Amino acid sequence: MSDVILQIDGREVAAKEGMTVLEAAQSVGITIPTLCHHEKLEPFGGCRLCTVEVDDRGWTSYVASCVYPVKKNISVKTRSEKVDRIRKTILELLLAHAPDAFDLQDLAKEYGANKDRFEKHASFCIHCGLCVRYCAEVKKAYAVGFVDRGIRKEISFIPEISARECWNCKECFPLCPTEALQAAYVLTNALHPPKTKGDGKTLEK
Ligand code: SF4
Ligand code: FES
Repeated sequence: MSDVILQIDGREVAAKEGMTVLEAAQSVGITIPTLCHHEKLEPFGGCRLCTVEVDDRGWTSYVASCVYPVKKNISVKTRSEKVDRIRKTILELLLAHAPDAFDLQDLAKEYGANKDRFEKHASFCIHCGLCVRYCAEVKKAYAVGFVDRGIRKEISFIPEISARECWNCKECFPLCPTEALQAAYVLTNALHPPKTKGDGKTLEK
């Protein structure tokens, strides 16, 4: 694959064709905040926190860097007044759902986001989809999924699968930027306790 030369924050970066702007930035140690991105998962582009400013032959646009492919001669700014304003608003909207999430609070400090700007709808889950996609794409277990739509959309463990797969896995737990996932798991276990052997391993249902 040939190299694509672009500018990121004033630095010349040589990226491989097909890479995203986020990957190109990370390859030279430039950090862009993300909430729904994971290197083992297919690009998703859900949270838009990774928005950057792209100048392509004089045209400026604001794009999600985790899904935007590198292109010859574009110039990328990972921070600018408008980029920071976009991230601040995204964080304020997410904080209305998960005001106590540590990851969001840290980002809120950096971008000056006000957690009380929008009316609270504490659902705790910010719909980043990391748990659902990791379980499906990496583990191929499909133990957790989204149910309902719109403002009622929430994640839910499938008790029959979760009882068999989750106890010895839990790889999705550290991915959750809030504590919604752990709470949903505890609830599922309380309502549908998995059967265990003496060694603590789960028995298949
Ligand atoms: S439970 Fe956590 S990881 Fe799963 S979609 Fe919600 S915020 Fe993301
Ligand atoms: S990290 Fe790019 S859209 Fe969420």
